[in-house]
Amino acid sequence: MTRLTIRGFDIRKGYLDAERQGQILTAVRSVVRAAPMFSPQTPFGKPMSVRMTSAGRYGWFSDASGYRYVDRHPRGTEWPAIPESVLAIWSELVPGPQRPDCCLVNYYEDRARMGLHQDRDEADFSWPVVSVSLGDDGLFRIGNLTRGGKTESIWLESGDVVVMGGAARLTYHGVDRIRAGSSTLLTGGGRINLTMRVVD
Ligand code: SIN
Ligand code: MN
Repeated sequence: MTRLTIRGFDIRKGYLDAERQGQILTAVRSVVRAAPMFSPQTPFGKPMSVRMTSAGRYGWFSDASGYRYVDRHPRGTEWPAIPESVLAIWSELVPGPQRPDCCLVNYYEDRARMGLHQDRDEADFSWPVVSVSLGDDGLFRIGNLTRGGKTESIWLESGDVVVMGGAARLTYHGVDRIRAGSSTLLTGGGRINLTMRVVD
């Protein structure tokens, strides 16, 4: 495991060994069975290229009315619980008793991407967002506290964990591309990213 900091993002390369990645993937599969992936519409009317679902009390959602957290999957059911194997990562890295109440599950096919954005739909920015990467490599771009300016990029690989907190909690970030076939973890290929958040 190596640790580096880029613009306040605490990046733990190789944090999860192969066994833990496999356990988490199994847990994510059962989340997806209970709460199938969907492609949200952006407020601008375009479907996102990333497919997503959530676990926890809240799930992230977007449509013509905007970005927000909702307490039900679009088909009307509650979100499944955040798996213990995923919560364990948070507990290891974030001091104190607070636990996340949302785990967003993003799935990137080969050509999916996520534009630069801030995570700012949560009530209290003193809690970090903890990101877990599984499957194919993703080129993660880190910007600034406001839109524009120079950016830095790093490939996130399967098993990498990033803590986005402190002064960097509202830093713009996104995923430019996926390196297809770079991991054998997911049988169908692609990249899964989990982000744990404290919503309220
Ligand atoms: C996100 O910002 O929600 C996802 C980041 C990632 O896929 O690495
Ligand atoms: Mn984000």
